[in-house]
This record gives sequence, structure tokens and C-alpha cells, in this order.
Amino acid sequence: MKISIINGPNLNLLGKREPDIYGEISFEDYFEKIVLSFPDVEFDYYQSNVEGELINQIQDVSHSSDGIILNAAAFTHTSVGIADAVKSIKSKVIEVHISNTFSRESFRHKSFLSPVVDGIIVGFGLDSYRLAVESLIEKNKIIGE
Ligand code: DQA
Repeated sequence: MKISIINGPNLNLLGKREPDIYGEISFEDYFEKIVLSFPDVEFDYYQSNVEGELINQIQDVSHSSDGIILNAAAFTHTSVGIADAVKSIKSKVIEVHISNTFSRESFRHKSFLSPVVDGIIVGFGLDSYRLAVESLIEKNKIIGE
């Protein structure tokens, strides 16, 4: 099974950026843990601060990945283009957020992605990504039955 993790703007600063909200671990360090925790899953990880690059990556990995874990960060709340990209592909997509966006500013309550993804995991810190991996493995098993 192949899973692609795609992170949007400013998530390259995890560990340094607003640590009270996003924690003190870099995504690279967390990603190593994820890879070790799921030895039967093949992972790739991509991060960009550029909306169009995220769209290109969603399209590219959709040909080879069984599932995509997408934290589009601030673009979640603004991007019709990323929502259209998700709608255009067949791979399962799980929207994740590290923080509980619903307990924050009201502009973070709106997601252009939530209506078009297969599931949403919000507010569990970096553990949101592990929960998304677990859910994709389960979904994959169900599809495989
Ligand atoms: C975020 C929440 C977004 O509102 C914010 O713009 C981010 C990160 C999260 O993972 O909690 O950059 O997606």
C-alpha cells in the first residue's frame, strides 16, 4: 500500500512555528517515526508553500498512491483550486489538521476541502497524521475484501 502525505504552506516550519499550537517536533522527525511505525506501507512526503505546486503534486501522486493525507494548511480555507484537484482524482483523500481549527478564529471554520474528501481528522496534534494512516489502511482493507 502506498500513502502520500502532502503538507501546505508554513508546515515546513513545524517545530519552530507557534509551538504552543503546532508542537515542537519538525515534520521530518515525525515522518521518520510514521515510516517506522508502518513497515508495510510505502510513504512519500511533499511540502510546498505554493498553491499550484500542491495541485501538481495531488495530480501526480494520484496515479500511484492508494491514499493521500492532505494538510493544505491555510489554503484549506481559501482554495477552490485544491478542492477541484481533490475532486478530479480517484485516490482516497483524508484532510488533516494538527490544531482544532473549530476552536480557533472563525475563518478557520470554513474548509473548501471537507465536502470533497473521504474523511477529516482534526485537532489531535501530529497524531492526526497517524490516525489518518490507520483510517486509510482500514479503508484499503475494506476495498480489498
Ligand atoms: C492547520 C490549520 C490551518 O488553519 C492553518 O492555517 C495551518 C495549519 C493545522 O494543521 O492545524 O497552517 O492546517
